[in-house]
Amino acid sequence: MHKELQRFIAEKLPVIDEKLNSLLGAANVSETLKSSMAYSINAGGKRIRPLLVLATLEDLGVDSQDALTVACAAEFLHTYSLIHDDLPSMDDDNFRRGKPTNHIIYGEAVAVLAGDALQTLAFGSLTHLSDTSAQDTLRIIRLLADASGSTGMVGGQMLDIEGETKTLSLFELENIHVNKTGALLSFCIVAGAILAGLNEEKTAKLRDFAYHIGLAFQIQDDILDITSTTEELGKTAGSDALSEKSTYPSLLGLEGAMSRLEKHHQCARDSLAFLEMEHPLLGLFADYIVERKS
Ligand code: IPE
Ligand code: IPE
Ligand code: MG
Ligand code: MG
Ligand code: MG
Repeated sequence: MHKELQRFIAEKLPVIDEKLNSLLGAANVSETLKSSMAYSINAGGKRIRPLLVLATLEDLGVDSQDALTVACAAEFLHTYSLIHDDLPSMDDDNFRRGKPTNHIIYGEAVAVLAGDALQTLAFGSLTHLSDTSAQDTLRIIRLLADASGSTGMVGGQMLDIEGETKTLSLFELENIHVNKTGALLSFCIVAGAILAGLNEEKTAKLRDFAYHIGLAFQIQDDILDITSTTEELGKTAGSDALSEKSTYPSLLGLEGAMSRLEKHHQCARDSLAFLEMEHPLLGLFADYIVERKS
């Protein structure tokens, strides 16, 4: 990983963790539910989504008091999606972020509720932006709803399930990846652009960037599922083959998937030319996403 990105991550991770836990602290009707939510939030995720929100603002040279709240909303939403993704009725995985999955520790009913509550917390947190106009706050909330519901992540998860045991076309597979993974990553970048007050022309470039890193991210996830170990990944390796999912490597072969990954990596980097920076953090993130081993 590039030194500049390493420095950025080391500086931001503790700040993100503190904010996540302070927002979680408010939700305490049931100690069991709170503990289950905190368990998955603090299990050791890479925090790529919140970091992308903060990196977008940093590259645009804008400081926003609300960036951290938006960053945390993305991580709450993502963590909920993982808890539900791992359930026996979905991918049936028992290992996540280096620990037993939420339902293994708390049981399925609590895991479902912890996911539900994290999702609500994501949207609730966004209603507390303090330095952003009501209009922009509404745009950000709508963007998250579109990225995470039936028109985004949940829609992609549905197609992913329907695609099990079938051979999908590359077009169909790309549509699944764009929705189940790309949409939320894209939210992080576009929400950052809204907070920064970026014009539409430049925001369109960032949307392009997000599209390509979204695909690159899930292609690398599919590659790691077959090339890595459970210990390295912190989640069960080989899970896709067991549930007979179509993945980029299953469709194109490992080499084909890797060349597709590199294509999206390059396109992502090209979309950042407008920033006119030698090492934009977002570009370093694109490098990290394709090089990562977990
Ligand atoms: C895993 O996401 C789920 C996918 C969308 C492929 P991450 O690899 O970002 O998972 P964490 O947050 O680090 O656990
Ligand atoms: C799921 O994709 C992405 C989500 C919306 C949670 P995967 O099922 O490939 O994610 P992992 O590999 O379990 O992290
Ligand atoms: Mg899945
Ligand atoms: Mg899964
Ligand atoms: Mg996967």
